[in-house]
This record gives sequence, C-alpha cells and structure tokens, in this order.
Amino acid sequence: MKYTVVITSELPPVAMQMLAGEFDVISHSSEGVRTEEEMVTILAEADGAITLLSDPLTRRVLESNSNLRIVANYAVGYNNVDLDAARELGIAVTNTPGVLTEATADLTMALILAVTRRVAEGDAYVRRTGLVEWAPLAWLGSSLQGRQLGVIGMGRIGFATATRARAFGMSVVYSGPTARPESDRQHESRRVALDELLTTSDIVSVHCPLNEETRHLVDDAALGRTKASAFLINTSRGPIVDERALCDALENRRIAGAGLDVFENEPHVGERLRSFPSVVLLPHIGSATFETRSEMARIAASNVQAVLRGRPPFTPVG
Ligand code: GLV
Ligand code: GLV
Repeated sequence: MKYTVVITSELPPVAMQMLAGEFDVISHSSEGVRTEEEMVTILAEADGAITLLSDPLTRRVLESNSNLRIVANYAVGYNNVDLDAARELGIAVTNTPGVLTEATADLTMALILAVTRRVAEGDAYVRRTGLVEWAPLAWLGSSLQGRQLGVIGMGRIGFATATRARAFGMSVVYSGPTARPESDRQHESRRVALDELLTTSDIVSVHCPLNEETRHLVDDAALGRTKASAFLINTSRGPIVDERALCDALENRRIAGAGLDVFENEPHVGERLRSFPSVVLLPHIGSATFETRSEMARIAASNVQAVLRGRPPFTPVG
C-alpha cells in the first residue's frame, strides 16, 4: 500500500517529480489562509504533508489524523506548527533552512535601499506625473556609508544581511540570546543589549523567529528609543512588530520610515500603515526567487521521503 502525501498548495514541479510514483500525492491549489476545519479536512488522508506558513497546524489539526507522520513546512519559520503537540503525537516537523538565506538577505537590503533612497515613492511620483526635474534639494534621502545596522537576531539571515551592509560601508551591532563570534570577526560587529541597539542604530532590522518571547518585541517602548532618523526593516514575521505602535511612531515622527515584507495580520495590511509614504510594503516575498523556491520544494520533498521510508528527516525542528 502506498502512503499518501498531501501538498496544501501548488509548488515548484520538483516536489511532485520526487514524490509521484512512490506515493499517492494529493496537491491542492493555493487558497489563501485556511481555517483549522479546512486543514482537518484536507489532511484527512495524509501520511505526510507539505504545508505553508499560513496553514494552522494546531494541536486539534495534528490530533485529527493518527496516520500523519510528517509535516514538512515549506518555510524556514515554523511558528504555525504546535511543536509540543507534534512531539507528543510522534509527528516529525521539518523546515527549509539555509536555501532562502541569501534571497531573504537580498530582499532585506532592497528594503534598506528603498527606504533610505525613497525608491518606491520616487517610482510612484514618476508614474503619476510623467515628470523628472533634477533639483539640488529634491528627493533627498540618507546615505548608508558610515551608518549603523542593528540586527535583531543574528541567525543565518541576519548574518547574510550584515555581510551585505558591510559592503555598503555600514557598521553592525546585533542583539539576541547568543553571541556570534563569526560575525564579530567577519563584520567587526558587537553584540549589545536590545536597548543599545535601538538607541544607536540607523537601520534596525528584525531577523528573529516569532515565538512568545519575540511577539511584539518592537513595541511602543522599543519605538520610543529609536533615533528619529532611523528606519525599521522587517523580513521575518509580522507579529514581532506591534503595528499599531509603529503607526503611532511614524505619525509622531519618532521614526523616519519602515520597510516591511511581513505583517501582523496577514493576509491583511492595515489602511493606516498603507497611508505613510515613508513606508515600503512588500507582499511577503523574502524567499521568492525561482531558485530558492525550487530548493525549498526539494528539501520539503526529501524530508517527506525520508520519514515515510522510515528514516530520520534531514532538517527537523523542535
Ligand atoms: C517565509 O517567511 C519563511 O519562513 O520561509
Ligand atoms: C533563518 O534561516 C535564520 O537563522 O535567520
């Protein structure tokens, strides 16, 4: 008897190529954010599943199918999975680390450049007016050379972002639970308390995972400490930033602007946040290159194969 693999969204073809034949594969189309009920229904037949970061893998969903042996989350983040429940139920959980590091760091750098040089605002202006008039005082932004990047969470993506920032002449500090001597060596960085990072950085970039300690880490108090000239960048998870507090800080000019790829209430982005011209908004595309998304599919499929063949997964989490 063949095992059944459920894929909750269309993926790059490599996943199907690897799994079809050996397994019965049920592939669903991408339908936005699913409810727990919908997850229970679509996972009913699954021995293994490839899931999205928007799929709620709660205890209730995981308990609903006693045949389920692996959830391969198609993302590096896995805050959508109840890891305690998975552990208790003997369900392996995997992510797709490593292969999206450079793509996400590239996008972080794109946001840093976009906010400091008013790229999105300028593009909108040229489209709207059909006019380009060079003027000494028009469209001034701020330079990166000599400025400080503050990395909240010096993991793989934070590290790759710091490498890019160094090439643009920036200095680097970081906060987080662990020291990264490689960063101190390669980027001449320093690990500092979050408070010092916030008060001294010109760009504050969030790269930590979402969990109970980091939810609303960037809140009113944190945004009260940043330089008024600072920019906040977030390419990790929306709920790490209190969006209401960010809107207040932007409105009161306690921060200069923000570059955001992730949002507190995805798929929705609040009207207030959308009203600030100094904010650049992207549709959660940190890993969205052909190369990276194919590699993520390959890793997710490899993990499913391994576990359903009775072997340990390659990139387990929890
Ligand atoms: C995307 O946000 C991911 O976690 O891979
Ligand atoms: C995720 O890949 C990270 O460690 O930043």
